[in-house]
Amino acid sequence: MKIIVTLDQPETMRADLIVVPLSSEAKRLPVAAAPLDKSLNGQLTKLIAEEKLTGKAGEYALLKSNGRVAAEKIMLLGAGARKLDAKAARKFAALAVQKARVVHAKSLALLIPDADAKEMAAVAEALTEGAILGDYRFLKYRSEEAKKHAEGTVEALALAVTNRQTKVAAEKGVVTGQLLAKATVFARELINEPASVTTPTRLMETARVLAAGSKRVSVKVFDRAQMEEMGMGGLLGVARGSDEPPYLVHLTYKPVGKAKRRIAVVGKGLTFDSGGLSLKPAEAMEDMKIDMSGAAAVLGVFSAIAEINPACEVHGIIGLCENMPSGKAVKPGDVLHTMSGKTVEILNTDAEGRITLADTLHYAQQQKPDYVIDLATLTGACMVALGQEVAGLMSNSRALADRLLSAADRAGELMWELPLTEEYRDSLKSRVADLKNITGTRYGGAITAGLFLQEFVRPSQAWAHLDIAGPAWAEKDTVPHQPIGGVGYGVRTVLRLIQNL
Ligand code: BES
Ligand code: ZN
Ligand code: ZN
Repeated sequence: MKIIVTLDQPETMRADLIVVPLSSEAKRLPVAAAPLDKSLNGQLTKLIAEEKLTGKAGEYALLKSNGRVAAEKIMLLGAGARKLDAKAARKFAALAVQKARVVHAKSLALLIPDADAKEMAAVAEALTEGAILGDYRFLKYRSEEAKKHAEGTVEALALAVTNRQTKVAAEKGVVTGQLLAKATVFARELINEPASVTTPTRLMETARVLAAGSKRVSVKVFDRAQMEEMGMGGLLGVARGSDEPPYLVHLTYKPVGKAKRRIAVVGKGLTFDSGGLSLKPAEAMEDMKIDMSGAAAVLGVFSAIAEINPACEVHGIIGLCENMPSGKAVKPGDVLHTMSGKTVEILNTDAEGRITLADTLHYAQQQKPDYVIDLATLTGACMVALGQEVAGLMSNSRALADRLLSAADRAGELMWELPLTEEYRDSLKSRVADLKNITGTRYGGAITAGLFLQEFVRPSQAWAHLDIAGPAWAEKDTVPHQPIGGVGYGVRTVLRLIQNL
């Protein structure tokens, strides 16, 4: 989708469709649409009254211009907010492209209410993100016939602004928005692929391709033999039941000048989670190709990092393997030796993510980062606590947690903090090893998983854990810029965070 910012008058715009936002408070035309309305003999104003439009999100009315203005059709579309701020803009643009597809419009113009330069940049950025993310679909495995019948796609989007200063700000916003949305789509593509395609090998190769594409990105790959030497008994234990070879992948981005800060971003990379010998029921396994969404987010971040050009050094670390049952698989009661020296009694082989993360988090800290962040589809319990849209944040550092919360807010990704409750720590004590990998109660499962990870984090290391089991996958079309499928959750939050480090 080609996106431009324009000062053209709406009456002269040659778009297939012009979309006018209706705020939920004003319930009348925005000022910017007045000349358009005049050329249309006041039909837009009339339409609001006739259709009793209230500006609710997604509510719309369509008008054919019949040659009165250059555009073919005009749509009034509810913005669902009193003001088209960044949050509302992201949803609005996604809805607009989806409506445009339905009416077969290939070129679309959005009328943007005037704002100061700073706000305009944020709004244009969010509109751009919303348009690209809302237009995304995973059609690869549909037949050519079915693809033909799928709705068309929006090829050109114009953001219509009214003043020269804000146009410059909006253009900047469009550039950033495109980068962030493309990185998100990069992650979505990996998540949506079936697990037999997105194997550990495939993700490792993807990392190699990313490193080959930029002078400032490099990659190290460790195979099974090397991980054995490093003592990664946790990750290797989980990988044992699978025929797919596991990999530890370490991407590094170095800025041009001397970096003031260093951050490590760790992703859970289970390309399929069957549960292992503690096999999941069939239904719970249906979506388990998404168990690499944390790793996909790290790869998404690295797909855009050189262009985002942050001043800090960034390490992306993903432990890649499958969790499968077989004659070789780790058994309940087995004890695994992690790289940190701590031993773990495996009581449920389905609590595998925390075991692979024990090793990847340990390795990440050897890079001496100021901050470590991990993203993991770790627990169903986090979805019980926070639902399918909100990630759980757990951290030992107030400063890092606050940075993440504000980056997430700016990125339009929902996140809520959960405590690392001291009182639950003892429930992870094992009678035969240093730790066991489950507690024996479902209660507080997201927190106890976070506490397990904390056992592998040095107390002086600022660290944050994001349980993204809920928001990694969109099961329904509830959020317009998150069509059903892989969401690419975390990519934009992490990029925003490192942009400001
Ligand atoms: N990958 C799952 C968590 C998950 C569940 C992610 C649903 C996305 C959607 C994880 O490995 C798992 O199986 N966790 C168990 C832990 C339990 C055995 C302590 C769970 O949540 O049931
Ligand atoms: Zn599992
Ligand atoms: Zn898992």
